[in-house]
Amino acid sequence: MINILDKTFVPFISRSSIESRIAELADQIGKDYAGRNPVFIVVLNGAFLFAGELVKNISLTCEITFIRFSSYSQTESTGNVRQIIGMEESIENRDIIIVEDIVDTGLTMAHLLKQIKDRSPKSVEIATLLHKPEALKTPIDMRYVGFEIDNKFVVGYGLDYDGFGRNLDSLYVLA
Ligand code: IMP
Repeated sequence: MINILDKTFVPFISRSSIESRIAELADQIGKDYAGRNPVFIVVLNGAFLFAGELVKNISLTCEITFIRFSSYSQTESTGNVRQIIGMEESIENRDIIIVEDIVDTGLTMAHLLKQIKDRSPKSVEIATLLHKPEALKTPIDMRYVGFEIDNKFVVGYGLDYDGFGRNLDSLYVLA
């Protein structure tokens, strides 16, 4: 059990389970993209640990770039999606894999997908560590999903509660 600010969280998914699942996703991506040179677009801040672990396990010749959005205020989605930084380079005719920590309502991802598709990539797929199917408000096609979880607030492994908890090496859920 851990406390972050005013909330208590309990262990949810262990580091070893997360890492072995990420290795499986990496393996799948390696097979699916054999002979190609994808561009991983990592959505900061939450996806930084997931992305690091994922790309370490991928031996494709690939590019990795970073963008940043914000849609969350404490534990409630604001519904406002804003692009803050990134996406300067051309992605025209490239195979894109978006790397996200969690798809919750899907509003952030829908917004990002539109922006990416407007730039004429060859293909776009999504790799997300977590997905909350019950929370989804708009249909999103996710090819690589680490874990489907209940609609509960989680922290750790890159995900934060009000800025804290990203460094935890496993996932915790609100008690
Ligand atoms: P969406 O637009 O509702 O899908 O929200 C996506 C973003 O909200 C994610 O990239 C996270 O930064 C944040 N988020 C959603 N659920 C959680 C959670 O349970 N813990 C921490 N952050 C979350």
